[in-house]
Amino acid sequence: MIDAIWRDRLDAVALASGLATSDHPRLATWVRDLSDQYNRAAFPVRWTPERIAARLHFFLPRDAMKVATALRDVPLPAGDGPVEVHDVGAGIGASALGVVLGLRARGLSRPMRLQLSDTHAAPLDLAGRVLRGLPGVELDTKLSRPEIVVYSNVLAEVDHGRPEPARIEAHARMLRAQAAGLVLVVEPALRDCARRLQAVRDRLVAAGVPVLAPCTHDAPCPMLRRDTDWCHDDLPVDLPPWLHPVARAAGLRWQGLTYARLVLGEAPAPRPAFRVVAPPRDSRGRKERLLCGSLDGDVLTWVDRLDKHASQQNGAWDDLARGDGLDLSPAERRVGRETVVTRTG
Ligand SMILES: C[S@@+](CC[C@H](N)C(=O)[O-])C[C@H]1O[C@@H](n2cnc3c(N)ncnc32)[C@H](O)[C@@H]1O
Repeated sequence: MIDAIWRDRLDAVALASGLATSDHPRLATWVRDLSDQYNRAAFPVRWTPERIAARLHFFLPRDAMKVATALRDVPLPAGDGPVEVHDVGAGIGASALGVVLGLRARGLSRPMRLQLSDTHAAPLDLAGRVLRGLPGVELDTKLSRPEIVVYSNVLAEVDHGRPEPARIEAHARMLRAQAAGLVLVVEPALRDCARRLQAVRDRLVAAGVPVLAPCTHDAPCPMLRRDTDWCHDDLPVDLPPWLHPVARAAGLRWQGLTYARLVLGEAPAPRPAFRVVAPPRDSRGRKERLLCGSLDGDVLTWVDRLDKHASQQNGAWDDLARGDGLDLSPAERRVGRETVVTRTG
């Protein structure tokens, strides 16, 4: 999705901006430092050239992949003119790049017009350098009615320090005020960020806003019942090999892609019947998945399949990852030999 040519592109952006290139011996230290800031929610981050270089050479490609995969199963914008996208809190452009990559990966060939905004304007110059020159992509300062609005790794910073209930209300109001075909929110897969997003989702559902993903129903979020749960994706998508050395040296993972997401639409759209919301549990002779979706009067159920019942129809059960959507026919607590399991994204 984001091949090695991007290392050269980002190095060219770094050189043009007076920043260190990706072969700098201290890059991994800077990546580690910035990761610690994010994990401690030490906002606002004080931006130094070293941290900006870390963002450019590591977080940008990684976070672009998160945004791109978060679009894997949502309805594509219809029409034939340019797709208009507003990236709120665009930073140095990772999220806008992710939308471009995600829509292209879905086969959308329409041109794209991007608006980037941020309360902190300095990084937007860098974003322009990252995005300018992408085929079929134009940067625009103001769009009248974007089809897609994206907030990626932004809510973690918005209203930081306010009491949690007020913050949840404010985020719900802010997202609800967006008039767009699709509003995509991506947040770190951290407990507090994900649970806040789930609470925002409950407010929006109560206000009648159509939620397209990750939810499979409009009942209160069952992943809020226990403090120890948080809804997030953990996709078996590794970072590209050229990012492995810096990830390894910084003590960060390159295997798998984790994030919490929320996708809002203007109108309801078909959703999968179930989504996997916990790590798969495989034991001797049995594979269990915790599914969010209506089954036997609840919306959170462990469903299993005995290995002796594995068949061609239910083969998709083996490889389901946390975050995958699926349909089950018939929908029962135990997947049988005849049950058809269809992964939907
Ligand atoms: C961690 S960066 C994320 C950048 C980019 N979206 C990404 O995914 O990599 C968060 C950005 O949100 C911006 N931000 C914080 N509060 C904001 C607000 N209320 N409105 C717009 N941008 C905001 C910050 O200035 C920062 O550039």
